[in-house]
Amino acid sequence: MYLGHFSLREAPFSITPDTDFYFAHEGAQATLNTLLVALRSGEGFLKVVGELGCGKTVLCRQLLKTLQDECVTAYIPNPDMGPDDLLLALAAELGLKVSHRQHRHQVMTTIGRCLLEHAVHGRRVVVCIDEAQAIPVRTVESLRLLSNLETEKRKLIQLVLLGQPDLDTKLARPEIRQLLQRITFSEYLGPMASGTVGDYLRHRLARAALSEHTDLDVFEAEAVRHIAATSAGVPRLVNILAHKCLMLAYGEGVHRVSMAHVKLAAADTPGLIKPLRGPARWWHWLRGGRFRQSTAVRTAGEVYE
Ligand SMILES: Nc1ncnc2c1ncn2[C@@H]1O[C@H](COP(=O)(O)OP(=O)(O)OP(=O)(O)O)[C@@H](O)[C@H]1O
Ligand SMILES: [Mg+2]
Repeated sequence: MYLGHFSLREAPFSITPDTDFYFAHEGAQATLNTLLVALRSGEGFLKVVGELGCGKTVLCRQLLKTLQDECVTAYIPNPDMGPDDLLLALAAELGLKVSHRQHRHQVMTTIGRCLLEHAVHGRRVVVCIDEAQAIPVRTVESLRLLSNLETEKRKLIQLVLLGQPDLDTKLARPEIRQLLQRITFSEYLGPMASGTVGDYLRHRLARAALSEHTDLDVFEAEAVRHIAATSAGVPRLVNILAHKCLMLAYGEGVHRVSMAHVKLAAADTPGLIKPLRGPARWWHWLRGGRFRQSTAVRTAGEVYE
């Protein structure tokens, strides 16, 4: 690989959600701050919806990392399971011994006791449920039961749901709309602003650098602009393109990534946002800032297959 060539310790553009590489771009940091403030003030039920690959999982892990010294935390990466299994998964995350043979009511009682014990000792319990759009409708009932656990003064458990936009569609279904009412904070996580992509690339290179002598200006300005445009600021797409660009530059024995490299990388990458044509493209570009929600949702549909 190109690690030695670019004087890197590890791969800078891996697509795993590694918090060592967390970049506090405006949208991500604003969402993280809101979650922290809401959780610290005792809010019981929060939701983050974001487009594919925009950083929900990495944000969730960063949130749990930030909270680990002040609360008991639990993480459910994939809630695509039945109502009993979700409770069992939570019990296991809380370090409780429960078995599949136990009745739902018993598992709930065990969880409830554990939460009460934490509350007595002044410990808040925060549970993050990632990929929440995959929760089966019948499992939502378990969430409702959990969110009912409270004393007269406070919630015993604080739930954070993170999911793709389908989550909103699911929560709007009449049979589970009552859960929607319990969500007191809803955040949207969109792509990065186009003008931030250069800093993101440098940040990840710096985190992966072998030493302080590692060159962080690998991507030429034009290349950065083209990555920003074709990825629409979606971090996963930026990573995929950047990784391919580094491979191409390495293959040619050069230390700079040019526009030509990005074009080649983009031609080989499915799922990229179709570049906007004509004046519209420049209008979007001049707006510069982070794509607004409506734009992100619209462009997310216009993908190359
Ligand atoms: N704020 C960020 N800082 C650094 N890297 C990020 C950030 N946001 C996203 N990434 C990177 O982008 C990639 C995709 O992020 P992540 O898996 O968190 O997205 P996601 O929204 O959870 O995707 P999905 O919708 O598929 O679940 C990962 O490599 C992650 O490290
Ligand atoms: Mg994810």
